[in-house]
Amino acid sequence: MSEPVRVQDRVVIVTGAGGGLGRAHALLFAARGAKVVVNDLGGSARGEGANASAADQVVAEIRAAGGIAVASHDSVSEGARIVEQALDSFGRVDVLVNNAGILRDKAFHKMDDSDWAQVCQVHLDGAYQVTRAAWPHLREQNWGRVIFTASTSGIYGNFGQANYGAAKLGLYGLTRTLAIEGRKHGVLANAIAPTGGTRMTEGLMPAQVFERLKPELISPLVVYLGSEQCQDSGELFEVGGGWVGKVRWERSLGVGFDPVEGFTPEQVAQNWERIADFEGALHPRDNLQSLQQMMANLQKYP
Ligand code: NAI
Repeated sequence: MSEPVRVQDRVVIVTGAGGGLGRAHALLFAARGAKVVVNDLGGSARGEGANASAADQVVAEIRAAGGIAVASHDSVSEGARIVEQALDSFGRVDVLVNNAGILRDKAFHKMDDSDWAQVCQVHLDGAYQVTRAAWPHLREQNWGRVIFTASTSGIYGNFGQANYGAAKLGLYGLTRTLAIEGRKHGVLANAIAPTGGTRMTEGLMPAQVFERLKPELISPLVVYLGSEQCQDSGELFEVGGGWVGKVRWERSLGVGFDPVEGFTPEQVAQNWERIADFEGALHPRDNLQSLQQMMANLQKYP
């Protein structure tokens, strides 16, 4: 038997935890002895309206099962208030699961400024607001876990989700830099790209598949990423239907041209196959590794 994954007594904020995936995360953290701030604005899937009962119901469920939780009804745009509530209720914050989200799907040529702005505001700015408010506390106590909820629509693209995809992959960029800045303070940041049957995905897949993609099948990964055992940072995981996998960047070996003489668009065209050939591809982990081939090319032509 492996040792239990520890989140006992940790103070965990889960945003958008009044339903769907966030609710499942909150329930599992609480079942494992964490103190949970169940945050949810309680609006529609498009981000309209507000309703305190979403968060309240999940808190009631957790308490009925003997767990510890408080409700937070603020929008993630008011991140500081959510973090303050964790501090007021439990005296600290240890784990932040940025999960709140809305959809405003539209083909790009039909998308208006408000579709774009609202989606970026909840997913990207909202995660920023809550994380920015929690960050000094995590750094000071030399321990923290931040989990961002990205999406395969950001990684791979998806018709009608230009706004959502941009915001979601933006969160991965945020994850990468926070992993670097947090590392020496014991603060780890990771991202997940989940697939689960929720109101957000209802009608987008066959009913039999929808039913089997239970939100609870995402949460074990999230709890692990929020635990003392987790040591990874800056990573991205796809998860759903009981399956978990890790995603990384891959880059071809590339082609070096003469940087002193310069090179032409025709040379690019002539070498196109080699530029895009993934045979023996590299997997740079950071900026330094990513620049190695470029630096080697400069050295080749002093
Ligand atoms: P959901 O709609 O059931 O849950 C999202 C929750 O966020 C809702 O309870 C909503 O009230 C809350 N929320 C929305 N705006 C908020 C705000 N400004 N402040 C606080 N709470 C707010 O959808 P689901 O599927 O559970 O989504 C959870 C996260 O997972 C989202 O970030 C979503 O984009 C992401 N995701 C979900 C996928 C899926 O297959 N269900 C696929 C990829 C990503």
